[in-house]
Amino acid sequence: MSEPKKLFIKTYGCQMNVYDSERMAEALGGQGYVETQSAEEADMILLNTCHIREKAAEKVYSELGRFKGLKAAKPDLKIGVAGCVAQAEGEEIMRRQPLVDLVVGPQSYHRLPELEAKARAGEKALDTDFPEEDKFEKLKGRPKAKRGPTAFLTVQEGCDKFCAFCVVPYTRGAEVSRPVDRILTEARDLVERGVREITLLGQNVNAYHGAGPNGDMSLAGLIWELDKIDGLERIRFTTSHPNDMTDDLIEAHANCAKLMPYLHLPVQAGSDRILKRMNRSHTADSYLRLVERIRAARPDILMSGDFIVGFPEETEADFQATLDLVEQVRYGYAYSFKYSTRPGTPAAERPQVDPVEADDRLQRLQAVITRHQREIQDSMVGREVSVLFEKPGRLAGQMVGKSEYLHAVHVQAPGLAAGQIARVRIVASRANSLAGEPV
Ligand code: SAH
Ligand code: SF4
Ligand code: F3S
Repeated sequence: MSEPKKLFIKTYGCQMNVYDSERMAEALGGQGYVETQSAEEADMILLNTCHIREKAAEKVYSELGRFKGLKAAKPDLKIGVAGCVAQAEGEEIMRRQPLVDLVVGPQSYHRLPELEAKARAGEKALDTDFPEEDKFEKLKGRPKAKRGPTAFLTVQEGCDKFCAFCVVPYTRGAEVSRPVDRILTEARDLVERGVREITLLGQNVNAYHGAGPNGDMSLAGLIWELDKIDGLERIRFTTSHPNDMTDDLIEAHANCAKLMPYLHLPVQAGSDRILKRMNRSHTADSYLRLVERIRAARPDILMSGDFIVGFPEETEADFQATLDLVEQVRYGYAYSFKYSTRPGTPAAERPQVDPVEADDRLQRLQAVITRHQREIQDSMVGREVSVLFEKPGRLAGQMVGKSEYLHAVHVQAPGLAAGQIARVRIVASRANSLAGEPV
């Protein structure tokens, strides 16, 4: 038998890219590839890219430049670009960096085996279509290999919201939901292979409306179906849009024991003037009222969010409104970004905020977010949580896992194994994790 070819995949961007990279590795497994962690020994290098901010997109070209030496040493090495930069820039990538052999957009991954064969034959291979067929149904099934206790499962892709700053509707296309039975089959398969927690993924995951046995099913409906799977202990979902946070989903947070008390619900800004210009179609007040309803249903829920500062025409008063909103919500985790101009999006044409001012706002916002994060993490001390253990810690006999609120928890308990869930009392709050003792 010939040596298997080696595939090196580097993944940027969101969790959907992480999921896609796994699926691409599996698809290329059928072409005789095994994964390697080293670019040096690879026969094929795939960059799974992100286009969300300018820095993310530019990183791809500097990374590609670093492969020049590898390609000179091994002329058979094939280099591919997948993901959102591939979709946004297409052929331009090969023009700008001629060592690229293959460019494939996120909706065409099921065509990867053909594209790989084309590249092997010495041709340039490009596919950035939005085909009618569902890539997930055409992608090879996952092999039956054992897995760690947590997994991502994409249930929805694309976005129809068109926030004025965002490239996702252009790189991932229109909203599409996968059918319920396919998701349940994949979830059962993951559980058989050792998975205990599944995070359902979608750019707008709570807009999910996949075909079910009796018509379309909502995300809440899907969660209740997943709830019936024995051995699946925890369900999460991300990312949600405030406008799709329906009553049945809020009710699931109150009544579905497997649905974890954690919700990523980006608001982006706290000023109605800016929200309007962002085309978010919600106000700061409607968001705050929504958070109130969610907390009434599940009082201990940990909220997380995303923010953009320095959006075109954002004034100091607008920014203060963002700080106010953050003070009211108190996020357990929040991610904040300086606005980055994306070519082709409506906001790119508008008057920009002075970058020094934007930097200053970002720092001020991050200081508040970090303070809340810290206070919320520290407030866990003395409480009992459940921890799903994922891997051994650095010390002998130590295991690390996540609480239901996604805090990392270290426990000294030699008897514990990955995949087990245990009740743990939190005894200390460290820099980036909690320490606990089994109860
Ligand atoms: N679908 C999700 C997340 C999209 S991208 C949602 O609607 O919330 C993740 C985050 O990147 C966004 O929530 C936003 O905060 C940030 N982001 C998107 N476009 C950006 C841009 N042009 N500049 C800076 N941050 C951006
Ligand atoms: Fe981008 Fe807005 Fe869609 Fe989220 S909802 S992916 S921020 S356009
Ligand atoms: Fe980036 Fe595409 Fe995800 S732009 S954030 S990889 S959907």
